[in-house]
Amino acid sequence: MAIADTSSVPTTHEQWQKAYGLTPELKERYVTLSDVEIDPLYVPKDGPVPPEIGYPGQYPFTRGVYPNMYRGRMWTMRQFAGFGTAEETNERFRYLLDHGQTGLSTAFDMPSLMGHDSDHALSLGEVGREGVAIDTVDDMETLFQGIDLGKVSVSMTINAPAAIMLANYIVAGERQGVPPEALNGTIQADILKEYIAQKEWCFPIDPAMRLLGDMIEYSTLKMPKWNSVSVSGYHIREAGATAAQELAFTLKDGLTYVEQAVERGLDVDTFAPRLSFFFNAQIDFFEEIAKYRAARRIWARELRETFGAKNPKSWLMRFHTQTAGVSLTAQQPLNNCARTAIEALAGVLGGTQSLHTNSHDEALALPTEDAVRIALRTQQIIAHETGVTNTIDPLGGSWFVEQLTDQIEAQAYEYFAKIDELGGMVEAVKQNYPQREIADASYELQGEIDNGRRIVVGVNAYTEGNENDDMVIHRVDPALERKQLDRLQTAKANRDSAAVEACLTELKRASATDGENLMFPLIEAARAHVSEGEIIQAMQEVWGDYRETPVF
Ligand code: 3HC
Repeated sequence: MAIADTSSVPTTHEQWQKAYGLTPELKERYVTLSDVEIDPLYVPKDGPVPPEIGYPGQYPFTRGVYPNMYRGRMWTMRQFAGFGTAEETNERFRYLLDHGQTGLSTAFDMPSLMGHDSDHALSLGEVGREGVAIDTVDDMETLFQGIDLGKVSVSMTINAPAAIMLANYIVAGERQGVPPEALNGTIQADILKEYIAQKEWCFPIDPAMRLLGDMIEYSTLKMPKWNSVSVSGYHIREAGATAAQELAFTLKDGLTYVEQAVERGLDVDTFAPRLSFFFNAQIDFFEEIAKYRAARRIWARELRETFGAKNPKSWLMRFHTQTAGVSLTAQQPLNNCARTAIEALAGVLGGTQSLHTNSHDEALALPTEDAVRIALRTQQIIAHETGVTNTIDPLGGSWFVEQLTDQIEAQAYEYFAKIDELGGMVEAVKQNYPQREIADASYELQGEIDNGRRIVVGVNAYTEGNENDDMVIHRVDPALERKQLDRLQTAKANRDSAAVEACLTELKRASATDGENLMFPLIEAARAHVSEGEIIQAMQEVWGDYRETPVF
């Protein structure tokens, strides 16, 4: 495995100190509970820092993407939230912001994720259940009512219909007087991981890749503060992948998006700084920390050395972390507070930029307000009580962590080579290669739990106390589905149907034409209140839909 060649990039202590001093520290003093002074960074006493470890904020960024990390700014506390209609979720967003959350993260309901309107036959019983129901731009405007989109960074977790929701978001911003160039946030949009793991697709792979390319191009040109894609490992891991598979498949997806954008004629340094990532924080504490550190180093090396990116911001692997949903147990659910805290600590010691902590009741239902507050407080305890943010990358230099980082990095490169042999990630996905690898890993892990070789507390060991597990769980009021259907009906009744037809005709024409950026007709369609389901259906008339060939 090639060690990063850092000869031409400043990695000296003086360079780091100069960069460190550019932003003020959050606190007057950094001391332990016993008033012992803590330095911002610890390096070997008896020799130079190995180049493959380097300095925070400097290539290859193993120790973190910013020179001062959490001494300059805490990670964004960004709890994933959404249920019911736009009104209910707007209330939950305000609740979270009032309790100290520093960024928003939007969970859409299954019909929205799959490209169906709330009145579609397949939406029955699902409207507003696992996330917020968003059919038209009117719902999007209600979702952010009273929240200044020019000030709050907003993440939207949606993939196949992402371009439609981005168009709705841009028009909702317009209606607040916030132009696209002032919108700060992220849309997930990582379509390859949908075919690999989450399985929420609308179109065949090739047109879906084109649509993502259109979004990356549009936001690069028009939305300088917008992260065009959140390349996600979370769902790959939740599907049962190992840490190395999560790392390798995620980064390879990201490199494929870079390749496609360069092939479209975009200069890598114009769009790469706004690519972002999203990883799982699973329960094996040190493996997760090594995974994040390896991810930064691989991404920096590949962007600089393989794609020739010159702008250091292009080399940054900035990421969001969510603690592992699959690690939560329905048995003794309060134990999940400990699991989430430990996983969140791994994300922080791994240098995350943004963090979601799961609620202890989420193996049972969407979280209650009380559970979400405990989850958010967990982040605040880590940030303000544990002292782990007093110094940068405190585990850096540990023989265990550094060798584990090297090992997982080498495993990732073995997967890269295999995927390249198959003709690249799109071809590998079409051949079900990552899907098969994940299925095998998932089967192995579950087998270890089922035969007791791997203990899961409360599930296959220490099960006394399980009988009194009852707790109040969040229930979505079924009346909200009716409310959303009425909202959609009103939106459709009040719009100009001729304009809707004209938008859909134009959208079909542009979808059938290579080289046109579909974001422009999609924004027009949003302005005309065309619904998500109508748009998806029009585009499927041109592109068709997708049928997976299952593998066993
Ligand atoms: N010193 C100086 N400046 C600093 C700093 C420091 N120590 N730390 C941060 N900053 C600056 C940054 O440079 C940035 O400035 P800019 O806006 O001018 O570039 C600003 O402060 C904000 O910092 P970050 O960009 O690092 O943090 P954000 O929170 O804004 O962005 C991100 C983080 C990972 C880049 C972004 O893409 C993001 O927020 N992602 C979130 C994705 C998300 O929430 N996904 C949820 C998915 S849920 C899901 O899919 C699971 C479900 O399906 C089950």
